[in-house]
Amino acid sequence: MEKRVISTDILEEDYKIENGLRPKLLTDYIGQKKAKENLKIYIEAAKARGEALDHVLLYGPPGLGKTTLAGIIANEMDVNIKITSGPAIEKPGDMASILNSLQDGDLLFVDEIHRLSRQVEEVLYPAMEDFVIDILIGKGATARSVRLDLPRFTLVGATTRVGMLTAPLRDRFGVVNRLEFYTVEELTEIVNRSARVLKVELDSQGAVEIARRSRGTPRLANRLLKRVRDFAQVKYDGRVTGEVASLALDLLEVDKLGLDHTDRDMLLSVIHKFDGGPVGLDTLAASIGEDSATIEEVYEPYLIQNGLLARTPRGRIATEKAYLHFGLSFD
Ligand code: ADE
Repeated sequence: MEKRVISTDILEEDYKIENGLRPKLLTDYIGQKKAKENLKIYIEAAKARGEALDHVLLYGPPGLGKTTLAGIIANEMDVNIKITSGPAIEKPGDMASILNSLQDGDLLFVDEIHRLSRQVEEVLYPAMEDFVIDILIGKGATARSVRLDLPRFTLVGATTRVGMLTAPLRDRFGVVNRLEFYTVEELTEIVNRSARVLKVELDSQGAVEIARRSRGTPRLANRLLKRVRDFAQVKYDGRVTGEVASLALDLLEVDKLGLDHTDRDMLLSVIHKFDGGPVGLDTLAASIGEDSATIEEVYEPYLIQNGLLARTPRGRIATEKAYLHFGLSFD
C-alpha cells in the first residue's frame, strides 16, 4: 500500500516542491556516510524485530538533508510520515492530538524541534518513553488526569541548534546523528543526479562548478542548478557547461567559494569595521543588519568550517584565508 505523507502545516509545500529531487532510499542518498551506515543497521534491526525504529535526532546546519533523511527512514521502514515543526505546535493539546492521530509504527517528523515550548515538550516525554500521554480533563478542583495509550511510533527530530535542546528531550533520542557539510565530490554527484531528474543537460565541468559554489549544501546546489538552467536556456542553447555555470553564478553573486552577499558582508565587516576582530556575535549582527541567530545557524557554520572565520572566547575573527579571498593583505 502506498504510504502517506501527512503534514500539519505549510512544510508540506516545501516537502512537495523539493520532493521530486529527494532520494527515496538510503542507497540513493549521497554522502553522510556515518549517519547512513548507522541508520541502515538500526532500520534493518528494527524491521527484523517487527518493531518501530527508536527515536532519531538529526542535527546540523540547514539544507543538509534532514527532512530528506526522515522521508527515507519512513520509506525504508514502510510507514507513514507525519511532518510538522516546533513553531507550528503551539499548545500541549496540539501535540497531544497529533500524537493521538498516529498509527502503529508511524514516523512523526518534527523540524526545528528546539523551538518547541517547554509545555509542549513535556507532552513528548512520556510519549517518547512509554508511548502514553496524560491529558487533563475538566478544570480546577474537579480536573483529573487521564492516561491514553499511544501506538508505537518513531519521533524523528531535526534541529540546527542541538545546544538549545533541553537535556530531558535530548536524552530520549536513542539514535543521534550529526549531519556534515558535503564534499565537492558528493555535491557533484547530487547535482548530476538532480540534472537527470530535471532533464537538464549538464556536462562534468558544469556540475563541478555548481558543486564548488554550493557551500557544502545540497539544497543550495539544487537551487543553483535550477537558476543556472534558466540562464543556460535563455542566454545559450540550454546546455549547462562549466563556462555557462560560472557566468550564471557570477550573475547570482555567488563567488568562487560559494559565498553570497551576506557571507561577504559579514567577513568584510569583521575585517574593515572591527579590524579583523575579535567582535561579539551581537555586535557583528547589528553591524550588517542581520539577526544573530541567523548568523549563528545559517551563515557562520560554513565560514568556520572553511577556515574563513574563527570563533574565539572574545568573539569572531577573520582569518588570513578570509583576507586573501578578498585580495587583502593580512598582517
Ligand atoms: N538531494 C538532497 N540531498 C541529497 C543527498 N544527500 N543525496 C542525494 N540527493 C540529495
